[in-house]
Amino acid sequence: MENNSETSNSEITKNGQECHHFQKATDALKHDHRVIEKVLATLEQLTLDPENASMDRWEKALDFIRNFADKCHHLKEEKIFFPALEQRGIPRDGGPIGMMLMEHEEGRGYVRLMAAALALAEEDPQAAETGLVDNGRAYLRLLRQHINKEDEVLFTMADEALTLEDQKELLREFWEHEVTEIGPGIHEKYLRIAQELDGRMS
Ligand SMILES: [Fe+2]
Ligand SMILES: [Fe+2]
Repeated sequence: MENNSETSNSEITKNGQECHHFQKATDALKHDHRVIEKVLATLEQLTLDPENASMDRWEKALDFIRNFADKCHHLKEEKIFFPALEQRGIPRDGGPIGMMLMEHEEGRGYVRLMAAALALAEEDPQAAETGLVDNGRAYLRLLRQHINKEDEVLFTMADEALTLEDQKELLREFWEHEVTEIGPGIHEKYLRIAQELDGRMS
């Protein structure tokens, strides 16, 4: 799904990495959503045809979800983006931010259960498959709706509440988060994993 309202110029750097120059923090987050959706499509295929799904692909998809979707993307929202929205008057408790935080936690629960199921792969493959498929489906349903709510509702509210200066400052803090919390180059590593998983589905 392409989002035409996303404004960025992208270029390929000398070492082949894709580099975006976003105008707004919400555009950077939307771009993350498009990458996450690629891996959700892979996860959907794994849940639809579990007999032909290798544990290696489950492992790669789960690694992406834990590190890119959660550590990189959800933590950027929780530590940087949501607090900025609160400062600009968007309520947390009983409002959209509180709901998004609850959904992040719910997602983490499914991810923990998927990881526990994956750990059973050798010892009890049937139990592993059931745990992966059931929790994978629940995660998919949750995250697709969550992304939709953020793109359509919260980010629209954010674009109205934040000044252009706020958006620029947030972009700078996102970059800092990626370097300090997950390490330089890790974002790109997971973009490549998303592409690889996506390519192997088509
Ligand atoms: Fe979120
Ligand atoms: Fe998000």
